[in-house]
Amino acid sequence: MSDLSRPGGPKIIAVANQKGGVGKTTTAINLAAALAEAGSRVLVVDLDPQGNASTGLGIEVEDRQFTTYDLLLEDVDLKAVILQSVTPGLMIIPATVDLSSADLELMSNEKRSFLLHDALRQPQMDSFALDYILIDCPPSLNLLTVNAMIAAHSVLVPLQSEFFALEGLSQLMLTIREVRQTGNKDLRIEGIVLTMYDQRNNLSLQVEQDARDNLGELVFQTRIPRNVRVSEAPSFAMPVLTYDTASKGAQAYRALAREVIQKNRLQVA
Ligand SMILES: Nc1ncnc2c1ncn2[C@@H]1O[C@H](COP(=O)(O)OP(=O)(O)O)[C@@H](O)[C@H]1O
Ligand SMILES: [Mg+2]
Repeated sequence: MSDLSRPGGPKIIAVANQKGGVGKTTTAINLAAALAEAGSRVLVVDLDPQGNASTGLGIEVEDRQFTTYDLLLEDVDLKAVILQSVTPGLMIIPATVDLSSADLELMSNEKRSFLLHDALRQPQMDSFALDYILIDCPPSLNLLTVNAMIAAHSVLVPLQSEFFALEGLSQLMLTIREVRQTGNKDLRIEGIVLTMYDQRNNLSLQVEQDARDNLGELVFQTRIPRNVRVSEAPSFAMPVLTYDTASKGAQAYRALAREVIQKNRLQVA
């Protein structure tokens, strides 16, 4: 049973922050795995040419015959591009470096900002009976990220608990505002999640305080701790929930999933 039945199809969440290394991919993979573990059917769209989400979910480069590039720019059968991951109920559209040229190719396309939006809303999508789609964005506010924001219902922002963490947020918020004005007026902020949090570190506490003071309810209660099991899991090609199911990292992503499910119950009701 799925945890929510959206009349308009799956809830689409873009995981975005133009800074690299803040935990976007880690959050996309493990939140997706936690939602799937809770009984949802979840699709991760790898929108980063680095393809880290694909690797982290066990899709080897040689098995990426069709990718997000084809989804955006070619007429590809969804059955060929949506792959089953190691986790039951969790699917992925993989990416390869090909996607790095998409940004330029998109420029000349009349529908350049709406390609992902349209691709994810094609009627054949219904047969996958998805509850959630999580989009793992590249570390940039480029046309790929804009595509994600136009396709999405909401943006989930991982915020690394380090110095200057909040500075980049204003630029991200500006982009969200622009997207609301130009192509997706209903775009919401799903929430901001503190990542790589270290309770013993004053800086983590300070970033959290600043974030909660400035952003209030937008900040998830759940904090993702810095946890070595989380960083090891991708090299074993699985989410941390599978790699070390009892680890602090796995538990934190389960708690984050519960918050997301709860929020969306409230919104659908
Ligand atoms: N909670 C965590 N604990 C330990 N390492 C983490 C955690 N979250 C992310 N990392 C590590 O930090 C690095 C950057 O994370 P990643 O998710 O790839 O960021 P992004 O996608 O924003 O570039 C990766 O090596 C990842 O394994
Ligand atoms: Mg990434």
